[in-house]
Amino acid sequence: MNKVIIAIDGQASTGKSTQAKKIADNLSINYRDSGAYYRAITLYLLNTNINYDFKISQEILDQISISQEYKKGNFRIFLNDDDVTNKVRGHMVSLSVSNYAKKPEIRKFVFDQLRKSAESKSLVVDGRDIGTVVFPEANFKFFLTGKPRIRAERRHKQIDDDSVKVDIIEQEINIRDKTDSTREIAPLRKADDAFKIDVSDLTIDEVFNKILQKIKSD
Ligand code: CDP
Repeated sequence: MNKVIIAIDGQASTGKSTQAKKIADNLSINYRDSGAYYRAITLYLLNTNINYDFKISQEILDQISISQEYKKGNFRIFLNDDDVTNKVRGHMVSLSVSNYAKKPEIRKFVFDQLRKSAESKSLVVDGRDIGTVVFPEANFKFFLTGKPRIRAERRHKQIDDDSVKVDIIEQEINIRDKTDSTREIAPLRKADDAFKIDVSDLTIDEVFNKILQKIKSD
């Protein structure tokens, strides 16, 4: 197979990473979670009390080293050699990440990491701006959307913690979607040549079959 880049963009909690992993397994290619880079940077900056109101200096960015590993359903992310796979999903990170992700210096950091990962190998990447900004030349582009309530219910099930209410998750999802789609740099939007899928009434396998059909039919 020639080198192939597959971009899965879309709103929060539409199952982008689930789909991206299934594609990676099915086609035996590598996977990168762009949101996880933003989450890991956010975790680092929150831990070091660096607010998003200020420009993040190169000196600070140079202290951050992030790597990702993916093997057969198992995704791990490391921040300065610490495994932060679970920590980056924490509530504080989820609340703050979109504010840090607006910043040009942080976007450039992630952009460079992703472009480097794709230099010599095929990749499936999920995020917000993968098909529009990071890999406009991607071979396949998908854009996932869904009703906010359904997305919140699915995320609620996934985190399996009754102290976190669905309403709160829905609120957080709505705020993040708004921040992501109205920001100046690399806003969340469908690339003109992306294939849009509304996941509200579809199971994981139904979405996956649509994606796979599209890839195989081209
Ligand atoms: O999993 P979920 O869709 O909830 O979010 P995520 O993929 O982990 O991304 C977390 C946040 O990072 C998003 O809400 C965006 O603010 C930001 N992000 C971004 O700006 N650009 C990307 N390519 C990926 C994520």
